[in-house]
Amino acid sequence: MAGSPRRRPTRPTDTPPTAPEAPTKTPNGAQRVLPARPATDTIDLQSLLRRAVDDWQLTFDAIESPIVLLDSTGTIHRLNRAAQKLSGKDHYRELIGHAVEAIGPGEPWARTAEVVWRIRHSRLPTVVQSHDEKTRQTWEIQASLLEGDPLGQERIIVIARDITHTVQLQTSLRRSEMMSALGSLVAGVAHEVRNPLFSISATLDAFEARFGPDQEHQRYIGILRTELQRLSRLMQELLDYGKPRNPDLQPGAITDVIEDALRISARLARTRRVRLVTRAEGLFPLVAMDRNRLLEVFQNLLENAIQHSPAGGTVTLAASERVIEGLPTLECVIHDEGPGFREEDLPKLFEPFFTRRRGGTGLGLSIVQRIVEQHGGTVSAANVPEGGAQMRVRLPLPTAR
Ligand SMILES: Nc1ncnc2c1ncn2[C@@H]1O[C@H](COP(=O)(O)OP(=O)(O)O)[C@@H](O)[C@H]1O
Ligand SMILES: [Mg+2]
Repeated sequence: MAGSPRRRPTRPTDTPPTAPEAPTKTPNGAQRVLPARPATDTIDLQSLLRRAVDDWQLTFDAIESPIVLLDSTGTIHRLNRAAQKLSGKDHYRELIGHAVEAIGPGEPWARTAEVVWRIRHSRLPTVVQSHDEKTRQTWEIQASLLEGDPLGQERIIVIARDITHTVQLQTSLRRSEMMSALGSLVAGVAHEVRNPLFSISATLDAFEARFGPDQEHQRYIGILRTELQRLSRLMQELLDYGKPRNPDLQPGAITDVIEDALRISARLARTRRVRLVTRAEGLFPLVAMDRNRLLEVFQNLLENAIQHSPAGGTVTLAASERVIEGLPTLECVIHDEGPGFREEDLPKLFEPFFTRRRGGTGLGLSIVQRIVEQHGGTVSAANVPEGGAQMRVRLPLPTAR
């Protein structure tokens, strides 16, 4: 077979280099010089060409990122399936010959048009990022001039990569690095401030013991004590935030924690004339918990609810056992009759230092979130249609009981 003069081998590398040449037409109608061959060779060559074209199309289509080949005016010459899919059109033909923006109204195409214009002038490969507010996707657009077109036509190849996930990861990494640095700083300061606070408090005790319950003194001492308490509480919160302790998880009863939290919050509720109601009847399975830390969660949430309640209002804490996404879960919902959250605040509530309360630190909810997550749970905030704010804490329950 190898010796037969009529049978052409299918590999193009085997083409005899000395074959005479004759002009043929390219698919674009342009003249191209190809070696003249017997008829059977032409058929083989055609199928070879078709296969090469198919191979390229398949390769292009196998790439998940949209790829578009444009001419120098930004008109689409070729595109792969990913680009076609993004356009929502049924066939490539509907896009070929149109401006690149025809693929879609938003990004990455709006920016691509700009890049094409830039590359025509600079003639340098360009990489830019574009973000689409509507789809919340971030794209990396790589564009370069294609050199060596056999017909001398200028082509620009554009590859758009969806880098949304990578960018999100980078942002969250930067954020957590910043938060951890900020946390150490804050904890260091809080630690240093606590010592003089203790000493002021001790001096105040000594002052009271020395000068007795003089009415005139008491007025000032009362103010000093309230402010000291506020500062101590702030320092404690800053320390908690800056130096998160690893939780020591032991099986415990949620009802005990809720009861303790209600008892601690009762004083604030009384002064604000807010009624505390609990609906946590029944026996719940034990939860893997760090009791003191979980107590902080409910204390913080109850305190927020009371602080935002109108006088005479009711704060309800309800606990129930539920199956969420197939997993047994303990759900605790705290509801108040206050004004609820501002819609625009909802995405920021758990950010450290976000506060709208006078004298607030904005650390309460971020500490709550961290503790709940350390317990493998979630916490979310919402407004109830009938009015008031609702905080929902979900904690995992053991699967096999
Ligand atoms: N029950 C609630 N009703 C309305 N707004 C709330 C409620 N709980 C929290 N918020 C809002 O969330 C903010 C952050 O709360 P938090 O992290 O506890 O910090 P702080 O209490 O120090 O302000 C509050 O300043 C307030 O604007
Ligand atoms: Mg608070």
